[in-house]
Amino acid sequence: MTLPRLVSTVSELRQLVRDAKLTGKRIGLIPTMGALHAGHLSLVEAAERECDFLVVSLFVNPTQFAPHEDYQRYPRTLEEDLSGLSRHRVNAVFAPSVAEMYPDGYQSYVEVRELSSRWEGVHRPDHFRGVATIVLKLFTAAEPDFSYFGQKDFQQLAIIERLTADLALPIAIRGCPILRDPDGLALSSRNRFLSGAERERGLALSRALAVAGEMARRGERDCGELRAALQEILTQADLQIDYATVVDRTTLEVLSTLDRPAVAILAARVGATRLIDNALLTPPEMEERSV
Ligand code: PAJ
Repeated sequence: MTLPRLVSTVSELRQLVRDAKLTGKRIGLIPTMGALHAGHLSLVEAAERECDFLVVSLFVNPTQFAPHEDYQRYPRTLEEDLSGLSRHRVNAVFAPSVAEMYPDGYQSYVEVRELSSRWEGVHRPDHFRGVATIVLKLFTAAEPDFSYFGQKDFQQLAIIERLTADLALPIAIRGCPILRDPDGLALSSRNRFLSGAERERGLALSRALAVAGEMARRGERDCGELRAALQEILTQADLQIDYATVVDRTTLEVLSTLDRPAVAILAARVGATRLIDNALLTPPEMEERSV
């Protein structure tokens, strides 16, 4: 077991990466907020398959939390994270302080306007500005060739793809599948806050997605019907729904007919914990065309 090199400053990370690039290494970056679980590690595994030098960042980014959100109680588990990563071929772990990323007088932000304004953006107004800003800063610090994000945070992935295209960043963005517990609950650092009974109720999210997926496979084209099914299952489990709908996979605009690649997106609260989940919905005739 070799512990990866722990780096806390941008200049040290940049030097390490530049040295690796001189020897022709392909750099992979996996941005995280720590409290790593198997979902995060699946991104590391994807990076191991196509990169020679891996950087994992662990940084609980204050600018993506609203004042009433869980920034203070967000789990911080550096020792466990390092030991989990030591089982992988990770070269550097970048764990900067808040002052390193946001020095005194900091005032520069990047915004991906339209994509940030809907869904999660309605409930968390400055959230994606914080995400886009820190991800851009991580990109300029680590200068990766590839960077890995989970489809679990589907809107975040769409925003990072847009940001990378808009700013012509020379980075390939890889979206990786959602890892779930055997009962269907999507892995999340926040699942540890759920009581046993809350977790049971939280399973309604993946159940609702499975039902909508099955309806689409059987030929349901009316997104109103799909939406109604999603909402009914969440309501039956007594969840507070923030949104439960079917949207275009790229623009994230609401769809009325399932006639293009789409995604069912859900956000709901179970007690004090907010859960999100999603599943791609492809009209069967398009699936057939793509094989
Ligand atoms: P965090 O919530 O720590 O997630 C880090 C990455 O792990 C994200 O790309 C997320 O989509 C992915 N991930 C989380 N749960 C997953 C699961 N069950 N299966 C597959 N991938 C999963 O997302 C963030 O951090 C932050 O917003 C960040 C991008 C690091 C910027 O601060």
